[in-house]
Amino acid sequence: MPMPATVRLVEVGPRDGLQNEAQPISVADKVRLVDDLTDAGLSYIEVGSFVSPKWVPQMAGSAEVFAGIRQRAGVTYAALAPNLRGFEDALAAGVKEVAVFAAASEAFSQRNINCSISESLQRFEPIMEAARSHGVRVRGYVSCVLGCPYEGKVSAEQVAPVARALHDMGCYEVSLGDTIGTGTAGDTRRLFEVVSAVVPREQLAGHFHDTYGQALANVYASLLEGISVFDSSVAGLGGCPYAKGATGNIATEDVLYLLQGLGIETGIDLDRLIAAGQRISAVLGRANGSRVARARSAQ
Ligand code: HMG
Ligand code: MG
Repeated sequence: MPMPATVRLVEVGPRDGLQNEAQPISVADKVRLVDDLTDAGLSYIEVGSFVSPKWVPQMAGSAEVFAGIRQRAGVTYAALAPNLRGFEDALAAGVKEVAVFAAASEAFSQRNINCSISESLQRFEPIMEAARSHGVRVRGYVSCVLGCPYEGKVSAEQVAPVARALHDMGCYEVSLGDTIGTGTAGDTRRLFEVVSAVVPREQLAGHFHDTYGQALANVYASLLEGISVFDSSVAGLGGCPYAKGATGNIATEDVLYLLQGLGIETGIDLDRLIAAGQRISAVLGRANGSRVARARSAQ
């Protein structure tokens, strides 16, 4: 299978990255991060979540963040919505694209969104209907596609029906998440082989966390499977509040460096991206999680 000529990166740092931070982060700092990412040329930025503030306190200010950001034409600014209430709040904040999130493991579904997998899919139906009537596009996530913090190994056969259900209900793209970052390149190839039998490859994305240091290899394995959309997080920010020990997403800078080396076009400016990551890392008072950013900044 030929490698894709272009790749779209879905920047999830402001959401998947910051949601896990216990320390307060001001709306102004979040807005600045999103604006910096816009200026770096990202075409898709997940800005926040409209979830229960009791479950994920850090995302409580998402409406204010949406109100404060500079939106560039042609760039998608998206938010997570777990239920109709979240969708309506997102709509009121002017959000034009949302993401719903299901899991491939029952235990994770319970811990993350307090319901079973099939209940979660039922909960998404009214969101899909409301989204259609408002012209809002919906992206779907499946978590724990290669492993679950509570159930251990997850098979591709467990993932396929959930991905298919999201696709069938109208999600234009389904992102497969290795939430705890234990998957290998071999697991990843098999996952896409199996799931692409029920959802077209052009409508699948890879979402890799780097806990075991396998994320970049998994992106490469996915490219070999013809996957051309990847979720990543500037400075490798993040983790998951319901997956203890899981580290951040693969760093956007590191994926970009890989793609540039392969001659694959993304439209993103690496230097500006590194500057955005350095700034938010300084705000959070932590080392930049991108190897490329660390190497470049040490020069
Ligand atoms: P629940 O407690 O079962 O919901 O939570 P409920 O309907 O019983 O409501 C309980 C309370 O929450 C009520 O308030 C509701 O009003 C409120 P109270 O009466 O107690 O004051 N509530 C809300 N508030 C604001 N926004 C809402 C909302 N809905 C209800 N939308 C629920 C169910 C789904 C709401 C909860 O479990 C939740 O918010 N979970 C979110 C978890 C989350 O955001 N996890 C991280 C994102 S997923 C992820 O990171 C993985 C991913 O990156 C991919 C990967 O890595 O694999 C995407
Ligand atoms: Mg994630």
